[in-house]
Amino acid sequence: MSSKRVLVTGGLGFIGSHTVVALQQEGFEVVIIDNLSNSSLDVLGGITQITGKTPEFENIDLRDKTAVKDFFEKYEDIEDVIHFAASKAVGESVLNPLLYYENNISTLVYVLHELNKKPSAKFIFSSSCTVYGQADELPITENAPVKKAESPYGNTKQIGEEIINDTCKINVDFKAIALRYFNPIGAHPTAEIGELPIGTPQNLIPFITQTAIGKREELSVFGNDYPTDDGTAIRDYIHVMDLAEAHVTALSRLINGKEKNNYEVFNLGTGKGNSVLEVIQSFEKVSGQNLPYKIVDRREGDITAAYADTTKANEELGWKANRSLDDALQSAWKWQKVVEKREEEDN
Ligand code: WQD
Repeated sequence: MSSKRVLVTGGLGFIGSHTVVALQQEGFEVVIIDNLSNSSLDVLGGITQITGKTPEFENIDLRDKTAVKDFFEKYEDIEDVIHFAASKAVGESVLNPLLYYENNISTLVYVLHELNKKPSAKFIFSSSCTVYGQADELPITENAPVKKAESPYGNTKQIGEEIINDTCKINVDFKAIALRYFNPIGAHPTAEIGELPIGTPQNLIPFITQTAIGKREELSVFGNDYPTDDGTAIRDYIHVMDLAEAHVTALSRLINGKEKNNYEVFNLGTGKGNSVLEVIQSFEKVSGQNLPYKIVDRREGDITAAYADTTKANEELGWKANRSLDDALQSAWKWQKVVEKREEEDN
């Protein structure tokens, strides 16, 4: 464990905040950069409730190159970074591609530019299984070909990985790991932090929990004519706490010099695929709630199935997801009830 401080960009976001908790519980001292565009300062309180430690926080927009430079001059000891800060709504990226290229690519370049001035920087990049598109073979290994992205969002993850790889090629002292997430879901078991989608949720689980709590009338299941057992699409749903712990493992790998080379990629999933209908059944079981839904047309750009081959993460990274779909859905439901209670108290 390093005594130096770790920077977590986007550290007040969904996966970022859970990773901050895991880092603090592993003994790391954390500094968060977040511009609050898709998160809230309340999350800082949630993190403190869980760990008893309030991370240092800087409200910085990483699109401001000077602000990024000033940050690294102020925090000159920081050379370990976990980079979550990015826009992540697939649909929005189709409608507003330049927002995504600026917010997801320029910011990455500015952070890497500062890290490259350091003697031994270590960088963990938040990537996504979306880089595989519809893989030809399942489960999906890290050697599966990266396909033409279905959205500008997915393209920014592919470009981001290439930028990092090219940086590692010309600077052997710069070490990086790209973590390709499958479908992150759930919340911290204390329900002090969780997913806070703004507006109508795009993702399945927050839409399910908002429907179950009565905020949404019914869930639309996007298609039941896929070539799967029950006709609905299959994904690898991974508990956000398993994902958070993987980031600590990946950073520790680089700090302890366990990497095989200075740019590595790992798939982070459970290795198990579940269909939309299976998720609904599991949610009804763990929540005791009946979930109203209707079958509608497929969503543009959706793939049939994706689930991870976890061999490399298990055997090389030394990490394995150990929470189940039921655990994740239980935590998501508990979190939704807390959010609902807070909204009622605020009104
Ligand atoms: C899951 C399944 C939908 C909503 C995206 C990004 C990925 C990552 C996770 C950022 C699909 C179905 C969904 C609904 C539904 N994001 N669905 N009704 O599309 O697999 O992945 O989010 O990193 O990069 O691509 O996740 O939760 O949107 O959908 O039937 O109201 O649920 O069709 O089969 P997805 P999702």
